[in-house]
Amino acid sequence: MTPVRPLLFAFGLVALLLCCGGASAADVAAGKATAEGCAGCHGADGISQMPLVPSLAGEPDYFIQWQLVFFRGGSRKNEVMGPIAEALSDEEIRNLGAYYASLPPPKPQPAPTSDALAQAGAELAAKHRCQVCHGNDYSGSGPTARLAGQREDVLLKALRDFKSGARVGSGVSSMADVVYGLSDDDMRALAHYMATRP
Ligand code: HEC
Ligand code: HEC
Repeated sequence: MTPVRPLLFAFGLVALLLCCGGASAADVAAGKATAEGCAGCHGADGISQMPLVPSLAGEPDYFIQWQLVFFRGGSRKNEVMGPIAEALSDEEIRNLGAYYASLPPPKPQPAPTSDALAQAGAELAAKHRCQVCHGNDYSGSGPTARLAGQREDVLLKALRDFKSGARVGSGVSSMADVVYGLSDDDMRALAHYMATRP
């Protein structure tokens, strides 16, 4: 787990700049108003009904902020989100982070009672120690995403994007190291397991 400490340290430094460099504290009501322009894809109350669009409700505040900063700066590449994030100010990003973090997280995807794929995912998650960074209940914290209850298609795409190098994000190799040892079947099982977690 060598990457954890420098990772957290690097994030800590920049998070400090993000959080305290601006003039005003985050404003949830203002974030909600800006988020009206996001609801068409990310869903009312941040629960996505659209294939390959992530739910944002209950994501950690800094995770939302960081991803928007990565889209805006182009280190996380996406044709849809790039231009949208470019139009956001630092203050709007802070407010959006506070707003989405304040919403109740999505309900887990229903799972069959005997769910071999989820069982395989649970074993892989333990082996690869996903909880060390994503939390015991996979609710995420700081710059690290919530995984519990996220859409299965979104989770699988994210893992494949990390594996192919299409998604770099922070430039810190946390997820790149994780997916290095995962096969596509492993990623399917993990995505299914996380999507069905409460
Ligand atoms: C036209 C549809 C669309 C709109 C409008 C839109 N998004 Fe997105 N958003 C997406 C898609 C698609 C992705 C997934 C990108 C990928 O696969 O890497 C995404 C990803 C994200 C992510 C990363 C989440 C994660 O779990 O990785 C954040 C944060 C985000 N959007 C915030 C916003 C905000 C804030 C707004 C409004 C200001 C917004 N989006 C408007 C389609 C949209
Ligand atoms: C060393 C810490 C660390 C470990 C271990 C780790 N992750 Fe992550 N994970 C992160 C960070 C940090 C992010 C945010 C990445 C970014 O900024 O682009 C992330 C993002 C993700 C995402 C994208 C979520 C989204 O909505 O965009 C998925 C999916 C994911 N991790 C799954 C896993 C799985 C499954 C495991 C275990 C096999 C795992 N992670 C282990 C740190 C970690």
